Amino acid sequence: MILKNLRETELLGEKIADRLKKGTVIALIGELGTGKTAMTKAIAKGLGITENVNSPTFTLVQEYYSGKLPFFHFDVYRVDAIDELDVIDFNEYFYSDGICVVEWADLIEEELPDEAIRVFIEYAKEEDSRIIKIEDPAAILGDMKI
Ligand SMILES: Nc1ncnc2c1ncn2[C@@H]1O[C@H](COP(=O)(O)OP(=O)(O)OP(=O)(O)O)[C@@H](O)[C@H]1O
Ligand SMILES: [Mg+2]
Repeated sequence: MILKNLRETELLGEKIADRLKKGTVIALIGELGTGKTAMTKAIAKGLGITENVNSPTFTLVQEYYSGKLPFFHFDVYRVDAIDELDVIDFNEYFYSDGICVVEWADLIEEELPDEAIRVFIEYAKEEDSRIIKIEDPAAILGDMKI
């Protein structure tokens, strides 16, 4: 699927949020600047989260409770640089009732639950367009038209 601009990415994120079942883990995989955080913010908005969602700088995960489900935003880009003492128990989040969105999920592939939904985002030809591939689209989109 092609997302022609940021707005289309945001709309898709909000639509995904509408249908998310509790306990879903969304694994975002894509190069720097492809729009993982933009997608995460849109999902958070769709869940009704009122706080500003930004990638945590000193932790791997940020927790939000103001939406219709608990929302856990991971950015594991620096997973290697994080002090081991601070390394979190991923399973505590991945097997909870909340929604997890993981940026740079490919870096923690072994930690991801089998049921995680992988979403690949790539640059396309046009500057603002992105190619998005959802591993099991029916799992998060159902028969929804996008
Ligand atoms: N179709 C699009 N979808 C998403 N973002 C887009 C699109 N077109 C342009 N952009 C721009 O690309 C940038 C994406 O930044 P964003 O921080 O979301 O990427 P990221 O994948 O999270 O990067 P990082 O790897 O640094 O975490 C934003 O500046 C956004 O405005
Ligand atoms: Mg990001």
